[in-house]
Amino acid sequence: MKHSTFVTHPPQVTVPSDNRSLVAPVYQSVKFTLDNVEETQRLSHGEREGFWYSRKSNPTLRQLELTLAELQGREACLLTASGAAAVNLTMLGLCEQGEHVIFFSEMYQPTRTMISRVLGRYGVGHTMLSIDDIDGIEHVLAGTPTRLVVFESPTNPALKVADISRITSLARRHGALTLLDNTLAGVHNHGQFDVDVYVHSLTKYISGHGDVLGGAVIADEAVVEALRADMAIFGASLDPHAAFLIQRGLKTYFLRYERQCQNATALADHLASRPEVSALRYPGLKSHAQHELACEQQHDFGSVITFDLRGGSEAAKKFAEALTLFSISASLGSTESLVLPPQLLQPRGFTEQQMTWSAITESTVRLSVGIEDSQDLISDIDQALSASGSSAS
Ligand SMILES: Cc1ncc(COP(=O)(O)O)c(C=O)c1O
Repeated sequence: MKHSTFVTHPPQVTVPSDNRSLVAPVYQSVKFTLDNVEETQRLSHGEREGFWYSRKSNPTLRQLELTLAELQGREACLLTASGAAAVNLTMLGLCEQGEHVIFFSEMYQPTRTMISRVLGRYGVGHTMLSIDDIDGIEHVLAGTPTRLVVFESPTNPALKVADISRITSLARRHGALTLLDNTLAGVHNHGQFDVDVYVHSLTKYISGHGDVLGGAVIADEAVVEALRADMAIFGASLDPHAAFLIQRGLKTYFLRYERQCQNATALADHLASRPEVSALRYPGLKSHAQHELACEQQHDFGSVITFDLRGGSEAAKKFAEALTLFSISASLGSTESLVLPPQLLQPRGFTEQQMTWSAITESTVRLSVGIEDSQDLISDIDQALSASGSSAS
């Protein structure tokens, strides 16, 4: 064998069955092979286990799928290249032309755009309500046959808490499926509810370090396998190296999440004492309108806090720019603290009514709290509040 041939067929190294690596290796291979055509056909017909092409499945992805399904308390999981891909491909996989979707003005903006603009283009109708409007949900479900109710809890960014059992029981009664974007609560929350499909942005708490994009769809086996057939064709698969980084991040998920919640609680308590701050929202605060519901539904309350600054939009901008430990950036749930000022949070194209539902004003600020020392973060908030020139009235 010439070296030019040899380098494309390098020596195979197999690990003895009684000798395992403690960290699973990254299967950075697109293709897998079997020794004969019959076995390859059996694999492609689903008659035996194995892997063929990484767009559909891969051992590194499989490990992460099994971990996430267990954490969310469901049978199966499939992975996508981003959280947006998980949300959007699930909706495309579940909906047909002529069907109807209910969603909410408080939701993550790209999800709203996907439903109203893209699904609309393919003949899927929609109704947008406020997540607070349970009577409205019942009314629409009773009057319009609905395929899917798509919601978040807590909502991003205004941190409204959805009444999950009321929404799922209404949907079940009227023959609609529920799709819960559980990104802000985390994969250890909300598994007890009768939700049909959970989606997560793995980019946030689950990978945790802000260095990788990913998404997950978690549901019963039958739903996931039906969606997997579509996903393999859509092609927005997670890369094995990204799956490896996410699996590695998960090892510290509970430690990070606990620390972030402790920090967020300390910051929320401190912000509550500051006269420049109004409309403070953190589901762990007794003053949050749905604190009791949050306590019933969630083990903990996450790391996102939103509030308004009495000084208005200019003061909010100065506040964000004066912070030194919080970076002005998108995303949430990572180890470092982040801030979004109102100029970067404002929904576009909303009516006055929808703006009220969204609970975002021209002075709303969103913080995502990291794992830094809480006293350092509080000192940073205090100096930035002084620098913002925001008054107490
Ligand atoms: C609630 C929610 N869902 C989905 C996404 C999209 O996730 P990704 O950025 O991984 O595509 C985000 C991102 O911020 C989000 O906050």
